[in-house]
Amino acid sequence: MARIGLVGFGGIGIEAAKALVTDTSLTAELIAFDRKEAVEAVPSAQAGAYEEILDAIGILGTGASIKLTSSLEDLEGCDAIIFTAGIPRQANQNRADLIGVNIPIVGALTKHIGKVAPNAFFVMVTNPLDAMVELAYRNLGLPASHVVGQAGVLDTGRFTIQAALATGRPASQVDTLVLGGHGPTMVPVYSAAKVAYKPLDQWLNAAELTRITDEVKDRGRTIIKRQGRSATFSTAIASVKMVKAYLSDTQAILPACTRLNGEYGYSGLFAGVATRIGRNGASPVEVPLTETERAAFDASVRAVKEEVAELNAAG
Ligand code: 2OP
Repeated sequence: MARIGLVGFGGIGIEAAKALVTDTSLTAELIAFDRKEAVEAVPSAQAGAYEEILDAIGILGTGASIKLTSSLEDLEGCDAIIFTAGIPRQANQNRADLIGVNIPIVGALTKHIGKVAPNAFFVMVTNPLDAMVELAYRNLGLPASHVVGQAGVLDTGRFTIQAALATGRPASQVDTLVLGGHGPTMVPVYSAAKVAYKPLDQWLNAAELTRITDEVKDRGRTIIKRQGRSATFSTAIASVKMVKAYLSDTQAILPACTRLNGEYGYSGLFAGVATRIGRNGASPVEVPLTETERAAFDASVRAVKEEVAELNAAG
């Protein structure tokens, strides 16, 4: 039984719950937290999703369970927490525009969560991702190995599917990696991008590679424009992938926003890097980059530092 908290039971939290209860490789005991007003509204997306997920567990006939709550105390004993509470961005916004509105939400909740779930593996999803991971880390009091941000798995998945579509190969034959901050400075690592073990730049011309880079970087906005709201299903799947690596102790190396400890010459800050995840938590892995990629990664870290400076300025 894995006790998993979903803090924020909106679009992403609901999709994560669906993914977790339908995953037969684990028996999920879900604690779905949202604000009292959201949980008790009539009708309420949260309450409706809760009832439907209950029925689905009945249909599947598994040992999974779900509790809908507006009390953070119910997170006690959680093995892992996926944190999505906060305001999502609109098409005319950058993720960084959300810092002012999401600092108080993330700040208040994470202070409390650290006290009730001190042994959890914590996956931050709220934007602006890199600053919100930093804020959560400061408030939670959990070890750095147990606080990560989800962005790289999503961005890398986006790179993978664009490479698959462009080459006509299935995603199962594609390896890619995106590092850096979750914003316009993110770094698709072409030196690690391969399709059927052949470098991606041997499959596609420069114009096609540029188109992929632009699409990967702007994919979040494309989705907002196409469906009228920020990505939920793909983001949830990415977060669940990270939690499962932790719970199942796979030691998989996934891109994640992780506290650096000397990797690439940086310490004491979170940035999107390859990260080994297992039951001992998350630890950064330095992968080789070309000179150009390294310069782009450094620029992305500078952008993350600017976001954190805004966080500091907000007190
Ligand atoms: C995205 O890139 C929600 O930030 C997320 O779609």
